[in-house]
Amino acid sequence: MKVMKKIYIETYGCQMNEYDSELVKALLQKNGFVIVADNKKADIIILNTCAVRDSAVRKVSGRIARLRYLNKNYIIGVIGCIASAYKTELYKIKDFKIDFFVGPDNYKKLAQVIKKVIISNEKSDETEQLLETYEDVFPVRKKGASAWLTIMRGCNNYCTYCIVPYSRGPERSKSFKSIINEVEQIIEQGYKQVYLLGQNVNSYVDNKQNFVDLIKTISNYQQIKRIRFTSPHPKDLSMSLIELMAQKSNICSQLHLPLQSGSTNILEKMNRTYTQEDYLALIKNIKSIIPDIVLSTDIIIGFPGETKKDYEETIKVMKEVMFDSAYIFKYSVRPKTLAAKKYKDNVSEKEKKARITKLNEMQKEISLLKNMEAVDKVQEVMIESISTKKSVHDCYGRNQGNKLIVIPNNNYVIGDEIKVKIWQASANTLRGMPV
Ligand code: SAH
Ligand code: SF4
Ligand code: F3S
Repeated sequence: MKVMKKIYIETYGCQMNEYDSELVKALLQKNGFVIVADNKKADIIILNTCAVRDSAVRKVSGRIARLRYLNKNYIIGVIGCIASAYKTELYKIKDFKIDFFVGPDNYKKLAQVIKKVIISNEKSDETEQLLETYEDVFPVRKKGASAWLTIMRGCNNYCTYCIVPYSRGPERSKSFKSIINEVEQIIEQGYKQVYLLGQNVNSYVDNKQNFVDLIKTISNYQQIKRIRFTSPHPKDLSMSLIELMAQKSNICSQLHLPLQSGSTNILEKMNRTYTQEDYLALIKNIKSIIPDIVLSTDIIIGFPGETKKDYEETIKVMKEVMFDSAYIFKYSVRPKTLAAKKYKDNVSEKEKKARITKLNEMQKEISLLKNMEAVDKVQEVMIESISTKKSVHDCYGRNQGNKLIVIPNNNYVIGDEIKVKIWQASANTLRGMPV
């Protein structure tokens, strides 16, 4: 029997999946498997998948079809959110011949599952929800300036459009102690930035310690130069968090605060539990404490029943808040969700396209205006890459606000912090010169 132990992992979806792939690498290496960077060198292919929109599922289906075409003998496994929430759809496609499905709570069984497939060619399906937190697993992190750290998993919010509570199960937090252990490990490994992750980070709780307690403790480690987190939910955002961000120079003045819709009527149908007024008041409070906060958001257009007027409310809020950037999505019906059961997807594809195009154009102009405010200012960049796609003479990093800044490469190393003066701005990128 050929020894099959080379595994190639491909990751789709959000940062939590990126972090999970790092956990999976640790768990597989411990069991004698070797992770390779090229699918052609692998015997086993693992796709860590996302189910949040139909487009994400289609992308993975296309990839499986391509991999099967390339190599009939690959062992192919699907892990992540499609495994837990969408597998029956993929089972139906016989040509895919998927060998195993392993859900986000079952990665400790992954090595066993793969061995079973290798030895007895037996297909496996491990997708039970277990409230796993992986406290005792240290991820194999990729080299760089920044380390991911998932502090809570799952979600209890049940926004009516969203599949995540079904794919990831109920909310649970990692213990305070294990997170601090991991932070200390991150410091030892030389990372300068830590990115705290969760579907709803600000509902973190361990005994009586909440998200503010956690982030305050982490910010006391001087070796951690930058702390970011994503995503907070507007309903759980406390001003004590914003005050802490204002006090602590190593908590970045940047916030990703998903709005989803500017219409109170649609927000209610989405079960977001805040109104347009609540959201705007929240932003006002945040800006009164941190006037130069960098804000980004998520927007869904074309939710069932979204009228022209609802859509205009979203435009209104976006113009008023002036987000530095926004991720805008077309509503996509998700199985199991309340919106799928209760509402008809009645905004036509043509209308969705028109709405998203217009919003993206508008946001591009706002992003450009916001970025132009940085021109002639001196900012601190943390180097993330020592070359850019376009030039080996340039490198790039990010400022406190998480914006990309390109600067001439001067033998910097990843993680260096450099003061630069911004001389050019586009909607997506700033250019600077070291001062
Ligand atoms: N927990 C995070 C979001 C996770 S999903 C939060 O609440 O902020 C990331 C984004 O995908 C969401 O913010 C939402 O804008 C979008 N999304 C989720 N379900 C969607 C759907 N059915 N159709 C279109 N976009 C969706
Ligand atoms: Fe989905 Fe809402 Fe939970 Fe975010 S808060 S993961 S959008 S259900
Ligand atoms: Fe996608 Fe799952 Fe993340 S559905 S967005 S990979 S939690």
